[in-house]
Amino acid sequence: MTVKIFDTPEVQDFLKAVSGFDQDGGNERAKQVIHRLLSDLYRLIDDYDVTPEEFWSAVSVLNALGQGTQFGLLSPGLGFDHYLDMRMDAADEQARLNGGTPRTIEGPLYVAGAPELQGSGRMDDGADTDAETMWLTGQVRDTDGQPIAGARVEVWHADSKGGYSFFDPSQSEYNLRRTIVTDAEGRYAVRSIIPSGYGCPPDSPTQQVLDLLGRHGQRPAHIHYFISAPGYKHLTTQINLAGDPYTFDDFAYATREELVVEGKRIEDAAEAEQRGLEGPFTEVVFDIELARTDDPELQHRHKRPRAKEDEQDRASQQAGTAKV
Ligand code: DHB
Ligand code: FE
Repeated sequence: MTVKIFDTPEVQDFLKAVSGFDQDGGNERAKQVIHRLLSDLYRLIDDYDVTPEEFWSAVSVLNALGQGTQFGLLSPGLGFDHYLDMRMDAADEQARLNGGTPRTIEGPLYVAGAPELQGSGRMDDGADTDAETMWLTGQVRDTDGQPIAGARVEVWHADSKGGYSFFDPSQSEYNLRRTIVTDAEGRYAVRSIIPSGYGCPPDSPTQQVLDLLGRHGQRPAHIHYFISAPGYKHLTTQINLAGDPYTFDDFAYATREELVVEGKRIEDAAEAEQRGLEGPFTEVVFDIELARTDDPELQHRHKRPRAKEDEQDRASQQAGTAKV
């Protein structure tokens, strides 16, 4: 049985009532957005003849996603994070604010307040003894190639099992999360471990949705960055390590050609000693270019609910400079 009722005055009036159009209170933009969202969904139910069983099973998946705070994990898999990046890239291009290292998604696993290092230091707590030592280094420059001293380079990544501290309670606090302030030459250099790729938990509601689409939930080995400095546009980006089976098959669509970095295995003892390391290691070099801006709003990461807030979040909220 197929019925088509979406275009009837009864359904159209009903949608307006449900969206609060006849009410004085509430938020005008929310009403418009909800009205459009519900209209699209009601139309879909009509067009695809969605059964009550299908509808209630979708509600149950949404409940499971909510209970497990999983929607932030599914969102990159459904391409929303990358789509927002595409829109910000297009807006930058229109405002002639492009240039510099490309952005890519933040992902759901950032935690504010990581320990700060001046120029260099160590990110791992030494507990991950199976892991390959990583020497992660680079220079922050402006788009004319001038070094930026005192830039804040926030780095976070997974351990050798693909887990992130805070979300993986077996790791120590802030393991593999640091803010490094660049030295006089704009350089940062840290000792860490080579991360593994990340996979959505196989029995999670996120994976359940991906299974329905015939898709995997794997990310290549990657390292997240926030980079900021006064007078420059805040950059959210990440690098993907070359040679991972998922480097160009990332379920979160974060890979960009310019952000694929090849690690270099170094076995020479003198080179290791120079960096204060005991044995062979893999060097990963990522230089970053920041675009100039005088707009203070663009100098901070955008506002979003995150696992923890820090001074920067509170200050930008108080100053009202944060973008919602
Ligand atoms: C997801 C996990 C990540 O580590 C990441 O960088 C992006 C997305 C996720 O589970 O959706
Ligand atoms: Fe990640």
